[in-house]
Amino acid sequence: MNLFTPFTLGSIQCQNRIGMAAMSRQRCDNKEMIPTQMMKQYYMQRCTAGFIITEGLPLSLDSIAQDGSSAIFNIKQADAWAQIVQELHTKGCKIIAQLWHCGRVTNKINNPLAPSAIKIKNSKYNQPKEMSIDDIQQVIKQYLECSKLIQYAGFDGIEIQASSGYLLDSFLKSSANKRNDNYGGSVQNRCRIILEIIDQLQTVFEPQKLGVKISPITRQYDSYDPNPKELYKYLLEQLNVRNIGFIEIRDDDYPENWLDFGYPSSKSDIANVFEFCRPLFKGCIIGNGKVTPEIGDELIKKHFCDAISFGRLFTSNPDLVDKIKNGDKLNEVDNSTLLSQGPKGYIY
Ligand SMILES: Cc1cc2nc3c(=O)[nH]c(=O)nc-3n(C[C@H](O)[C@H](O)[C@H](O)COP(=O)(O)O)c2cc1C
Repeated sequence: MNLFTPFTLGSIQCQNRIGMAAMSRQRCDNKEMIPTQMMKQYYMQRCTAGFIITEGLPLSLDSIAQDGSSAIFNIKQADAWAQIVQELHTKGCKIIAQLWHCGRVTNKINNPLAPSAIKIKNSKYNQPKEMSIDDIQQVIKQYLECSKLIQYAGFDGIEIQASSGYLLDSFLKSSANKRNDNYGGSVQNRCRIILEIIDQLQTVFEPQKLGVKISPITRQYDSYDPNPKELYKYLLEQLNVRNIGFIEIRDDDYPENWLDFGYPSSKSDIANVFEFCRPLFKGCIIGNGKVTPEIGDELIKKHFCDAISFGRLFTSNPDLVDKIKNGDKLNEVDNSTLLSQGPKGYIY
């Protein structure tokens, strides 16, 4: 078994085990947040992947981290996504929509939503407001409404972004969540919003087509938990109860993401995050986070992961799958065009 062995991600049949990770490339150049022809070209150029996870799609105008995002909260956006989905399907590539709420990681919104009114330490981001129960219910409803449009557009599945310091990660981790109602405090309470979202999405998509992205050791944007083992053990147990198809685990090799903000190293809590999660989750595991093709192959051979999602390598190597297959040299990542505008570093 290796990166090229076909497999089923939950119930999504994929031609290989190489996925493209979600990446907001900020190339959507219209205010309506409708995916453009250039974006379609971008995704099509990477269609040899077994599966593509879309850029994070904000749920609403209240959940946008940056300009240049596309979305799927109205029918016009969904119609444009449907064209991308259809074309990818003609090439045998599967596409999963990532639903994303930026939480407190934004400058575009005054008083953005967060579990608690805690600003990200030493950051330029706006002071958030603590979400009311109504706010929470509203966000859960937005996930449901978007999921109906995602189904209408023909996507193969949905990934909930619960990693990297954005809204749902900040609910999970106690440095950012100081609530004393049903959504804060105990591990059970901090996981509640994610599980309630999943319960709603299951009314639209079968659970095997749903996944969650997590980052147990990353404390990006100051979301940190001193007891990650207990937290993720409970979360994964609950995802099993709901028969969720997959999780994507973001590892982190950026020391600033596991040593920063004055917390102890999270690598000392969980040295190998894939090995830690494997026995806890019965669905598929997608490994992510500066995984090289060689490490990816090894993770699959050892059964720690079922598939690997590559982010940055796909930006500079649209033909990544063929290059790995042929053992060709990979192009270096061009950091200057990751989040720039226009076709440079985006389409080839
Ligand atoms: C330009 C850029 C944009 C990103 N946008 C998202 C996003 O929208 N949603 C998400 O979950 N992760 C996002 N990420 C993180 C990637 O999905 C991935 O977790 C990270 O880059 C580590 O994988 P890699 O080392 O293979 O790049 C982004 C990363 C980059 C470089």
